[in-house]
Amino acid sequence: MNRTANAIVVGGGVIGLSAAWRLARTGRSVALVDPAPASGASHAAAGMLAPLSEVTYTEEPLLRLGLASLERWPRFAAELTADSGLDLDYRAEGTLDVAFGADDLAALDELAAFMDKLGLPVERLTGRECRRLEPMLAPSVRGGLLAGADAWVDPRRVTAALLAALRRLGVPVVRERATELVRDGDTVLGVRLAPPGAPATHPGRVLAGDVILAAGTWSAELANVPVRPIKGQIMRLRSPSPLLGRCVRGVVHGSPVYLVPRGDGELVVGATQEELGFDTRVTAGGLYELLRDARELVPGVTELELAEVVAGLRPGTPDNLPLVGPSRAPGLSLATGHHRGGVLLAPLTAALLQGEEGALAALCSPQRFS
Ligand code: GLY
Repeated sequence: MNRTANAIVVGGGVIGLSAAWRLARTGRSVALVDPAPASGASHAAAGMLAPLSEVTYTEEPLLRLGLASLERWPRFAAELTADSGLDLDYRAEGTLDVAFGADDLAALDELAAFMDKLGLPVERLTGRECRRLEPMLAPSVRGGLLAGADAWVDPRRVTAALLAALRRLGVPVVRERATELVRDGDTVLGVRLAPPGAPATHPGRVLAGDVILAAGTWSAELANVPVRPIKGQIMRLRSPSPLLGRCVRGVVHGSPVYLVPRGDGELVVGATQEELGFDTRVTAGGLYELLRDARELVPGVTELELAEVVAGLRPGTPDNLPLVGPSRAPGLSLATGHHRGGVLLAPLTAALLQGEEGALAALCSPQRFS
């Protein structure tokens, strides 16, 4: 066996990269394994850091995780920028949730009351106040809720910065496929690797060390992990100057839609939620829904140039909470199951893996399903 690292992170999405970066920063010897880092769900993600806007009333534990991670984001972003020399387009101007009909308005009132009860800062706005903040909103918007503490970031810049930071710290990024966990009884000793495209019979080589499994929805191929793929199709539009000043969300025809503006004029419109297994095809129906719903919120989107459409697979869990921390198998920790919140929860996940945030660790413990 080849003992080159005492921690092996399997998976090079925003979660695995963040975990490897934070561990390496503390002086731990780390290697990261992924045949194509930053190409999965993190590549598709919009990057909303919006714990207030993404929860429902039954998801208070998820809200607590999201808020704890949002609090960590400014320092995480500043340190990552310093370590990588790259800008992340981190912005903190809030999310505006808008409503059209009486039912939507009532839902916003309920959400505002829920947030108020939890002591969280939100502001209820009239339609006119919403348009004053965001002049491109449709005239039919009748009210809104401003979650002023929400932020957002460009996930592609984040993963590029994490890879650059790992390079500077001398962390090896092994561009091979982890084919199996190597065990002695229950204990995990390392991972077997194969070059991308190698046949199933390839004997591979073994990398020994403590394994952190952060392979998103593919984690289930290596261990008994309760994650399933939830497909999201997402669209990137381009305009010469930003159409919006902050993230805008709404429920149109019963489905939620969001628009995330980037500093360079890109506008991300997302996202579908489909349970179709490991299917990453972009479909005409998915695009139609996204554009139709985005146009209801901001009619001007149809004037923009279509830059890209992509689909990613979110790793969903039975209770919508992530799986972070030691598994029952000695030598194996998990960092997966982040569903819609991988980018938001990356700083908290890295901290949990280092034994911080004890009070929140139990919520994410992988052992809750054993
Ligand atoms: N966080 C937004 C999404 O998963 O679509």
